[in-house]
Amino acid sequence: MADATSVLHVSPVIPVVTIDDPQHAVPVARALADGGIRIIELTLRTDSALTSLKLIANEVPDILVGAGTILTPGQADAAVAAGAQFLVSPGVTPALLGHMLSLDIPVLPGVATVGEVMAVLESGLEAMKFFPAGPAGGPAYLAAIGAPIPHVQFCPTGGISLATAPDYLSLTNVQCVGGSWLTPRAAVESGNWQQITELARQASALGI
Ligand code: 3PG
Repeated sequence: MADATSVLHVSPVIPVVTIDDPQHAVPVARALADGGIRIIELTLRTDSALTSLKLIANEVPDILVGAGTILTPGQADAAVAAGAQFLVSPGVTPALLGHMLSLDIPVLPGVATVGEVMAVLESGLEAMKFFPAGPAGGPAYLAAIGAPIPHVQFCPTGGISLATAPDYLSLTNVQCVGGSWLTPRAAVESGNWQQITELARQASALGI
């Protein structure tokens, strides 16, 4: 149950979404769904993030919504209570990983080194977020990890764009990538849902 491999197969891109005003949450989610994206990692980086998470979980059933930027066990609990359908952390500690695994929903822990991949593997998870993908070594680094550890699937995130996503998606150990480029802050704040739908459409086409 805790393994997030199924989460990696929903869409070729997991939009990493940060929302300040909860009134934007449902329109953003619908705009992404209109463009063919069926998943959101909603970051817990704003005071109202849990309210936005709850709104999307309740009102946009065709979107799988998870909570990102989980740094503490308390945040994981709060995210699950708000309706998160999966949890994403930028990195892992033994205490945080152990707690997230106890919550019985898919968990996508962040890793950036071979040792961290091995530590998470010991917990039984074979799906991980590779973060921050660009600065940590990019596609060449992931390809190299795939030689000794071919059975781990990654969602690289951090510094990826529509232009560079194919370099990652062509790897056998990458099912999807994550990125914030689908929901530019200016588009969210000005209510430019059409732009978000178009960006989602382009991202969806990466999977064709
Ligand atoms: C994340 O939390 O995954 C990153 O902030 C997303 O990285 P990006 O903004 O470079 O896409």
